[in-house]
Amino acid sequence: MTQETPPWIVTLLVVAGQSLAASPASAQPMVAVSRGPYLQAAGPGQVMVRWRLAPPAAGRVRWGKTAGALTETADDAPVAADHAVTLTGLSPGTRYHYSVGTPEAALAGGDAGFSFVTPPAAGTSLPTRLWVLGDSGTANDNAAHVRDAFLAFSKDRPVDVWLMLGDNAYPRGLDEEYQRALFDFFPGLLPSTCLWPTLGNADVLCCESNPSSAPYLQIFSTPRKGEAGGVASGSPLYYSFDHGDLHVVMLDSMVSDRTANGPMLTWLRQDLDANQKTWLVAGWHHPPYTMGEHDSDFERAHVMMRENALPILEAYGVDLVLGGHSHSYERSFLLDGHYGASTTLTAAMKKDPGTGRPEETGAYQKKSGPHQGAVYVVLGNAGQLSQGPLNHPAMVVSTLALGSLVVDLDGPQLRATFLRDTGEVGDHFTIRKMGSVPRPDGGVLVPDAGALVPDAGADALVPDAGVDAPLDGPLPGPDGGVAPPPDGGCGCALGGVRSGSAGGLALLVLVLVGRRRRR
Ligand SMILES: [Fe+2]
Repeated sequence: MTQETPPWIVTLLVVAGQSLAASPASAQPMVAVSRGPYLQAAGPGQVMVRWRLAPPAAGRVRWGKTAGALTETADDAPVAADHAVTLTGLSPGTRYHYSVGTPEAALAGGDAGFSFVTPPAAGTSLPTRLWVLGDSGTANDNAAHVRDAFLAFSKDRPVDVWLMLGDNAYPRGLDEEYQRALFDFFPGLLPSTCLWPTLGNADVLCCESNPSSAPYLQIFSTPRKGEAGGVASGSPLYYSFDHGDLHVVMLDSMVSDRTANGPMLTWLRQDLDANQKTWLVAGWHHPPYTMGEHDSDFERAHVMMRENALPILEAYGVDLVLGGHSHSYERSFLLDGHYGASTTLTAAMKKDPGTGRPEETGAYQKKSGPHQGAVYVVLGNAGQLSQGPLNHPAMVVSTLALGSLVVDLDGPQLRATFLRDTGEVGDHFTIRKMGSVPRPDGGVLVPDAGALVPDAGADALVPDAGVDAPLDGPLPGPDGGVAPPPDGGCGCALGGVRSGSAGGLALLVLVLVGRRRRR
């Protein structure tokens, strides 16, 4: 590991100090930080700090603008293992230092220093770096090399926005797997950088009979009330947030209702209709275009997200769409309007048929506004590789290589770098914004096919389960019903063949003969 001192070492040092000071006769078990701290749902004025204590104890965060002078405190008073405290009243774009522990002692951080910078005020245009990982949860040498390549690449320019695209902890999304693949794996980043996750199939394999009990839902606190910008989704599974002049939408392609008029995509219309930021990035687990390990022509989650989510996103001018699931790297042309199978791609759907590289065919140039083109990237390659045809015609690059994506926003320019595990740049492209196209009528661009679902408020969709409480009842299913058990890891079992399509039977036969190995 090449990271800075992990928090558990800090904890051990503090605990050792406590032990020296404690009475030898004391039989009280020593409390230590066994997870975190890590940051969630960061907004310009607030940040949630989470950590785990063992054995359970009351929690306290100490914080302030100066290291060594943590004069503010916020308590999570109940005796518990997992703690979450939202620090409020913060200033945008400001560094804060903090420690976590109990009311009696700071157990991690403090003078040794954990700190974070709050996001800039919404709409403020500042250089912003995103780091995107897909299917990173292997906790193996591959994932370590991908991580370390990024840390070396970014040592002089820390990441501002950290996205995970699902399958964050293999093989089943258990709590101890999250400990290995996330908390023990990124000890230097987690205390300083807010992590924005989405759900993959592996994240619910632990809980086939009840996805609502998945540790993912206990571990992550996403901004379902719109507390980080955007419209409240009311769901822990899909949400949006702002970072300066960037709006990010994280969707759930795994267990949420993926139908056009279901709660998730109804909320998406509302959220995007309210958004005025220059840049729009969207992410979820099952990419709309892939011919890697998975086949987006046939597998249900991919097909539904392409057919139902893409028309909405493109109508609101999405710039970059990120997915995982296929363990490869695939990157598209600047596209618009491609909602069918790969064979239906036409030249007119390529808003720019070039590479998007300034030194070759030039940067992609687009305006803000509806249907100006977006780049689609498959990034399920942060922990393992899996074979596939890698021949989707929408792609500029399709390659079997480990890595992650670094996205740098600077005013009207977006530069994306595919950083391989070796540290080499495996691909890059640039998008430049050249003015804007006004929205028609200034209203909702993509109304529901049926009656609009009234904005009943966030909490009407899914009850606010809080940090430690499971959701009540089953999650809504991806087809609008109750979520079925996960299907062996791919979200695309035989039932995933598009029903009702003219070629349905033929496609089913193709799947049955094992046209493609699935995970
Ligand atoms: Fe997956």
